[in-house]
Amino acid sequence: MEVKVLRQAGLVLAVFGLLGFVSPAMAELKKDESAKDLILKGDGKCTGCHDEGDEPVPTMLELRPSVLSIGKTRHGTNADGRTPTCTDCHGASEKHNNHKGGGKPPLPDRVFGKVGQSSATVRNEACISCHQGGNRIHWQSSAHASGDVACNSCHNVHAKKDKVRDKSTQTEVCVTCHKEQRTQFNKPSRHPVPEGKMACSSCHNVHGDNPKQLVKSSTNDTCYTCHMEKRGPFVHNHQPVAEDCGICHNPHGTTAANLLKTRSPFLCQECHSSSSLGHRTAAAGLPGARTTDTSLLGTVGRGCLSCHTNIHGGNSTVNSATAGRFRR
Ligand code: HEC
Ligand code: HEC
Ligand code: HEC
Ligand code: HEC
Ligand code: HEC
Ligand code: HEC
Ligand code: HEC
Ligand code: HEC
Ligand code: HEC
Ligand code: HEC
Repeated sequence: MEVKVLRQAGLVLAVFGLLGFVSPAMAELKKDESAKDLILKGDGKCTGCHDEGDEPVPTMLELRPSVLSIGKTRHGTNADGRTPTCTDCHGASEKHNNHKGGGKPPLPDRVFGKVGQSSATVRNEACISCHQGGNRIHWQSSAHASGDVACNSCHNVHAKKDKVRDKSTQTEVCVTCHKEQRTQFNKPSRHPVPEGKMACSSCHNVHGDNPKQLVKSSTNDTCYTCHMEKRGPFVHNHQPVAEDCGICHNPHGTTAANLLKTRSPFLCQECHSSSSLGHRTAAAGLPGARTTDTSLLGTVGRGCLSCHTNIHGGNSTVNSATAGRFRR
C-alpha cells in the first residue's frame, strides 16, 4: 500500500518538478513489523511494504505486474517445498529491507525492473539456481545468453499469465526483438504461427545451444519432427533435399507458394543451368526431341514440377535410363 502511494506521489512530484514546484519532502517509509506472510513462505518481511494486489502497477517507465499475483502462478504452490520466496530471486536485500527514515530505500540486491537493473548474468543466476535442468542444460552457451538476454526478457514471473509460454501470445514477445521474422510471418506463404496453431517454439528451443537455437541439431531433423514423409529413405535422393530443406524453403514465410524462396523454374535453374540440361528423350510435352532451352519450360503450368512431381525424392524402380528423375 505504502509503495503504491509513494509511486503515485513520485509521479505527482515528477510532474510538479517539471513545472518547477520542487518539493524535498518524501513520505516516511513505515514497515509493519508484525506483518504475516501473504503468499510465499517468509514473504512477510517484504510484503509488509509490497502488498500490491491483483492489478498491474503503472510506473513512469513500464506497466509492472502486481507483486502479489505471483501467488497465482506455479511459483505460488507453497505445498511444494522447492517453491521460491521473494529473496531467492531478489536476494537477501538487507539494506533495502532494513531501511529506516525518509526517502527511497537503496535498491534490493537483484533488480529486474528498468530502474537500476542488475546485469543479465546476475538476474539469470537467480533462475538458473533452480532451473538449470531440462532443455536449459546448455543455457550458458545459447545465443540468447551470449546476447545478454535475460530469463525475464521473455518470462513474467509475477504475472498470472506468462505470455511467452502460451502459443497464441508467444509471437508478440519474440517479435519485439526479432522484427525481421515478424515481416516474414506476414507473407502469403507461412507456417500457421499467426493463427496460434504453431509457435516459434515448435521449431526453436530458445534456451538451447543448437545451431540457430533449433529444437533438433539440424534444420532437417527439425522439419522431420512434423514432415516425416520427407525423410525417406528414397530409392533416388535429391541431393539438396537430404542436405538442407532451407536451400529451397524459408521456414518463416515467403511470397512464393509452398514457402519457396524462389519460384520454379528459377529455383531449379539456380543449380540446373538451362544450357547444360539434357532432356534427351522426346517426353510428352517436351518441345523438341533432344536438348531444349529449359527457360521455355517455365511458361508451361507449374514448370519443371509438372513433370518432376516428386521433387523431394523418388521411389521409382523402373529399370530404365529415365528412372529416378523424381517423376513418380
Ligand atoms: C520498508 C518498506 C520496504 C520493505 C520492507 C521492502 N521494500 Fe522493496 N521497495 C520499497 C520502496 C519504497 C521501493 C521503491 C518503490 C519505487 O521506487 O517505485 C521498493 C522497491 C523494490 C523493488 C523494485 C526496485 C525497482 O525496480 O524500482 C524490489 C524488487 C523490491 N523493492 C523488493 C523487495 C524485497 C524482495 C523485499 C523483502 C526482502 C523488500 N523489497 C522489502 C519498500 C520496501
Ligand atoms: C521467481 C523469482 C521471483 C520471486 C519468487 C519474486 N520475484 Fe519479484 N520479480 C521477479 C522478476 C523476474 C520481476 C520482473 C517482472 C516480472 O517478471 O514479472 C520482479 C519484479 C518485482 C517488483 C517490481 C520491480 C522490479 O524489479 O521489476 C517488485 C516490487 C517485486 N518483484 C517484489 C517481490 C516480492 C515482494 C516478492 C515476494 C512476495 C517477489 N518479488 C518474489 C522475480 C521474482
Ligand atoms: C527456489 C527455486 C526457484 C527459483 C529461484 C526460480 N524458480 Fe521457477 N519454478 C520453481 C518451481 C519449484 C516451479 C514449479 C515446479 C516446476 O514446474 O518445476 C517453478 C516453475 C517455473 C515456471 C513454470 C513451469 C511450468 O511448467 O509451469 C517458469 C516459467 C519458471 N519457474 C521460471 C523461473 C524464472 C524466470 C526464474 C527467475 C526469475 C525462476 N523461475 C526462479 C522454482 C524456482
Ligand atoms: C527468448 C525467450 C526466452 C528466454 C530468454 C527464456 N525463456 Fe524460458 N521459455 C520460453 C518459451 C517460449 C517457453 C515455452 C516453450 C518451451 O518449453 O521451450 C519457455 C519455457 C520455460 C519453462 C517451462 C518449461 C520447462 O522446460 O520446464 C521454464 C522453467 C523456463 N522457461 C525457464 C527459463 C529460465 C530459467 C530462463 C533463463 C535462464 C529462461 N527460461 C529464458 C522462452 C524463453
Ligand atoms: C529481448 C530481446 C529478445 C527477445 C524477447 C527474444 N530474442 Fe531471440 N535473440 C535476441 C538476441 C540479442 C539474440 C542473439 C543475437 C543474434 O544472434 O541475433 C537472439 C537470438 C535468437 C536466435 C538465434 C539466432 C542465431 O543466429 O543463432 C533465435 C532462433 C531466436 N533468438 C529466437 C527467439 C524466439 C523464438 C523468441 C521468443 C520465444 C525470442 N528469440 C525472443 C534477442 C531476443
Ligand atoms: C517451421 C519451423 C520454424 C518456425 C515456426 C520458426 N522458425 Fe525461426 N528458424 C527456423 C530455421 C530452420 C532457421 C534456420 C534457418 C537457416 O539456417 O538460415 C530459423 C532461424 C531463425 C533465426 C535466425 C535468423 C538468421 O538469419 O540467422 C531467428 C532469429 C528466428 N528463426 C526466429 C524465429 C521467431 C521469432 C519465430 C516465431 C515468430 C520463428 N523463428 C519461428 C525454423 C523456424
Ligand atoms: C511443429 C510441426 C512442424 C514443423 C517442425 C515444421 N512444419 Fe512445415 N508445416 C506444418 C504445418 C502444420 C503446416 C501447414 C499444413 C497446412 O496448412 O495444411 C506446414 C506446412 C509446410 C509447408 C507448406 C506451406 C504452404 O504454403 O502450403 C512447407 C513447405 C513446410 N511446412 C516446410 C517445412 C520446413 C522446411 C520445416 C523445417 C524448417 C518445417 N516445415 C517444419 C508443421 C510443421
Ligand atoms: C530442391 C528444392 C527443395 C528442397 C531442398 C526441399 N523442398 Fe520442399 N518443396 C520444393 C518444391 C518445389 C515444392 C512444391 C512442390 C509442388 O508444388 O508440388 C515443395 C513443397 C514442400 C512441402 C509442401 C507440399 C508437400 O509436398 O507436402 C513441404 C511440406 C516440403 N516441401 C517440405 C520440405 C522438407 C521438410 C524439406 C527438407 C527435408 C524440403 N521440403 C526440401 C522444393 C524443395
Ligand atoms: C541447390 C541446388 C539444386 C536445386 C535448387 C535443385 N536441384 Fe535438382 N539436383 C541437384 C543435384 C546436386 C542433383 C544431383 C545431380 C547428379 O546426381 O548428377 C540434382 C538432381 C536432380 C534430378 C535428377 C537428375 C538425374 O540425373 O537423375 C532432377 C530431375 C532434378 N534435380 C530436378 C530439379 C528440379 C525440378 C528442381 C527445382 C524444383 C531442382 N532440381 C532444384 C541440385 C539442385
Ligand atoms: C514435360 C516434362 C518435363 C519438364 C517440364 C521438365 N522436365 Fe526435366 N526431364 C524430363 C524427362 C522425361 C527427363 C528424363 C529423360 C531425359 O534424360 O531426357 C528429364 C530429365 C531431367 C534432368 C536429368 C537429366 C539431365 O539433363 O541432367 C534434370 C536435371 C531435369 N530434367 C531438370 C528439369 C528442370 C530444372 C526443369 C524445369 C526448368 C525440367 N526438368 C522440366 C521431363 C521434363
